[in-house]
Amino acid sequence: MKKELRDKFGRKVTYLRLSITDRCNFKCFYCKPIKDFKYIPHGEILRYEDLLFLAETLKEYGVEKIRLTGGEPFVRKGFLNFLFSLKKIFPNIYITTNGYFLKESVGKLKKIGIKGLNVSLDTLKRELFKEITKVDALDKVLAGIEEAIKERLSLKINTVLMKKSRGEIIDLIKFASERKIPIRFIELMPISSRVKKEFLSENEAKEIIKKHYSLIPIDEKIGIGPSRYLKVPENNGVIGFISALTHNFCETCDKIRITSDGKLRVCLALDDEISIKEAVLKRDVKELISLIKNALDKKPFSHNMSIYDQISGKNMYQIGG
Ligand code: 5AD
Ligand code: SF4
Repeated sequence: MKKELRDKFGRKVTYLRLSITDRCNFKCFYCKPIKDFKYIPHGEILRYEDLLFLAETLKEYGVEKIRLTGGEPFVRKGFLNFLFSLKKIFPNIYITTNGYFLKESVGKLKKIGIKGLNVSLDTLKRELFKEITKVDALDKVLAGIEEAIKERLSLKINTVLMKKSRGEIIDLIKFASERKIPIRFIELMPISSRVKKEFLSENEAKEIIKKHYSLIPIDEKIGIGPSRYLKVPENNGVIGFISALTHNFCETCDKIRITSDGKLRVCLALDDEISIKEAVLKRDVKELISLIKNALDKKPFSHNMSIYDQISGKNMYQIGG
């Protein structure tokens, strides 16, 4: 039998989002509650050697790209050493990070040969940054971004669209285009209950942008994710939109998610997670693949996210975006 993973609609799985920790030093309001959040106990998460087994096995079954997410992946001890080991068995490694630990990590990331880095940046205003993340760390994140650019790491900016930061959109486009890095605007997803009144749609954002710039769609595919890109001819900028609510991209979904405690999630909007931890700990490839295939049979063709419905009992820091 062909070694591949497909859902019942024939979509092939080529992309794994692997959350290596649910811990994060920030508390972005759309991602994590300010208090009473619970982290997974250290003893329950998959060890690095387990993750290596998982990566190696899934590579054999057609997974071509791994994105390491969190929480914040850099808060997990030994992350950089893990990357060195992972790179030996898996070539295409991407990371999503809040940028806080980036500056001191850039040299090693470069050496390892990380394919791409998505850095979250919602505002260029110190106070607003602090309001959103609960940490006064804008300067540190910006320093990390500058260092990564200096070392020519492949970089993208992720900006969550919010009413409270609508005034930042133009400055962020300028910031990114001056540095020749793509910026993607992400529609707020109702993964927790606190976000509804902050929702700003892709179309609303485009209205704001069009007052300053023209936007020309780009057909070619950039990067590995579901983002659709446009060009800003005035400054040669490239901007993308990831709009799970108003322009969902389920049709071409090629991904699965695995949480740090070994739960497989076949759709961001489906809480029906199954545990693959036992199979991984036993190094049982047959059982692991059979669990994944069974779960893929339940992958829906698309979600119908609406800003009015909370789509998950979980928060984003527990899933990894
Ligand atoms: N809606 C949209 N994007 C979110 N992220 C975290 N929570 C949400 C949410 N509720 C984004 C982060 C980061 C990525 C991992 O997911 O900003 O860029
Ligand atoms: Fe941390 Fe990212 Fe969630 Fe913010 S969005 S709390 S940086 S995991």
